[in-house]
Amino acid sequence: MSINYADKIPNNVELASNKTLQRALEHWQPGYLDWWGEMGPEGSPNYDVYLRTAISVDAKGWAHFDYVRMPDYRWGIFLAAPEKDRKVNFGAHKGEAAWQEVPGEYRSTLRRIIVTQGDTEPASVEQQRHLGLTCPSLYDLRNLFQVNVEEGRHLWAMVYLLHAYFGRDGREEGEALLARRSGDADNPRILTAFNEKTPDWLSFFMFTFITDRDGKFQLAALAESGFDPLSRTCRFMLTEEAHHMFVGESGVGRIIQRTCEAMKEHRIDDPAKLRAMGVIDLPTLQRYLNFHFSVTSDLYGSEVSSNAASSYTNGLKGRFDETRIDDDHRLEGAEYPVMEVIGDRILTKHVAGLTALNERLRDDWVADVQAGIDRWNRIPAKYGVDFRFKLPHKGFHRRIGAFAEHHVSPEGAVLSEADWTSKHREWLPNEQDRAYIQSLMGRVVEPGRFANWIAAPHQGINKQPVNFEYVRFN
Ligand SMILES: [Fe+2]
Ligand SMILES: [Fe+2]
Repeated sequence: MSINYADKIPNNVELASNKTLQRALEHWQPGYLDWWGEMGPEGSPNYDVYLRTAISVDAKGWAHFDYVRMPDYRWGIFLAAPEKDRKVNFGAHKGEAAWQEVPGEYRSTLRRIIVTQGDTEPASVEQQRHLGLTCPSLYDLRNLFQVNVEEGRHLWAMVYLLHAYFGRDGREEGEALLARRSGDADNPRILTAFNEKTPDWLSFFMFTFITDRDGKFQLAALAESGFDPLSRTCRFMLTEEAHHMFVGESGVGRIIQRTCEAMKEHRIDDPAKLRAMGVIDLPTLQRYLNFHFSVTSDLYGSEVSSNAASSYTNGLKGRFDETRIDDDHRLEGAEYPVMEVIGDRILTKHVAGLTALNERLRDDWVADVQAGIDRWNRIPAKYGVDFRFKLPHKGFHRRIGAFAEHHVSPEGAVLSEADWTSKHREWLPNEQDRAYIQSLMGRVVEPGRFANWIAAPHQGINKQPVNFEYVRFN
């Protein structure tokens, strides 16, 4: 499964043996580079960035680190190695050989799944394109760019599937993926969370901690697909996604650490005094967490969904860790708990497990987010600071599903419109919070220096020192 870097488009799919496909993708490539030039990281084309590039898709040693100018990054098509005799592992086709071509009857559903996933990838690059101008350090700038080039590659991954398996429709979708823009009034990205702004580095770290983690769970569910090329594509994307979540988790962790240091050193916990010292008070971090958690929750869709049921039954999208679950993998007679609001109470009801697959994937994601929060909470504990981060109730600040028509507090109380209006500013980032965070955003580019509001990391990238020159400006 070695990667061919001699071709114009690096790949491990023997692209040269399929001239029609190769030509189609080479035709798409300049449009992609134009998009990167227009919507990629602002002002960055001449920077030499210490980036990793895939050299093999094996679990170990897949990355090569070197200085790269981002427009010259070798974006390409990398699939995980095929699994011998792989089968469809769930749904009505369970036990059949995995599909190497798109089954005709599932063509439009599969195309929609791939387009929806593909659309999130360039969207996040667009959302993050101004952040380089206010980086808290060279180390963080490099991490931002690494995430950006890999999201660009994830777009390549999905466009490859569209071109290779969906003919003219697929090529048209490939063009449309370059035409939509995050936040655009006329031609926005498909999913709401990907049209929100990522206006500052705190939002970026929360996004990569929480929303890239949604990416992990969506990709993991698609990695179970009976459509084998999708499975192999997603399996390799998952290895890249791990770094994005690391960037987010460690980024917020370093902010918490810096704040706790200040709290301990000066024996204060008054947010106003902490802000006067130029660090981010913990309640503000909690409000950002509440926002990103609730907006990302919506990405999983409605608790009860017949689309989710048919994607599963048809073998297109599995559950997280499908093959490790000990059951019939068809969900015959299975039930799953979902919440509903009755009057001013939130009740749990049991519905057919097949229809609750969105909720189940959301719950798997929530557990993974919670594990990260538990790791964050070790930091105030270590400093003797009496504050713990808490995930809000699943119904808090939701726009989709059972809670969409209701107001729910972070503790899970159903609120009147008036109560919500008077209280929500305590729970979500308010204008003062946003303005304060914005006021912290400077630009720190001296190697080894970090903005005042964030601690230095424990170690550098690829065993380089923390004060390594991760980005060279030319
Ligand atoms: Fe991605
Ligand atoms: Fe990602």
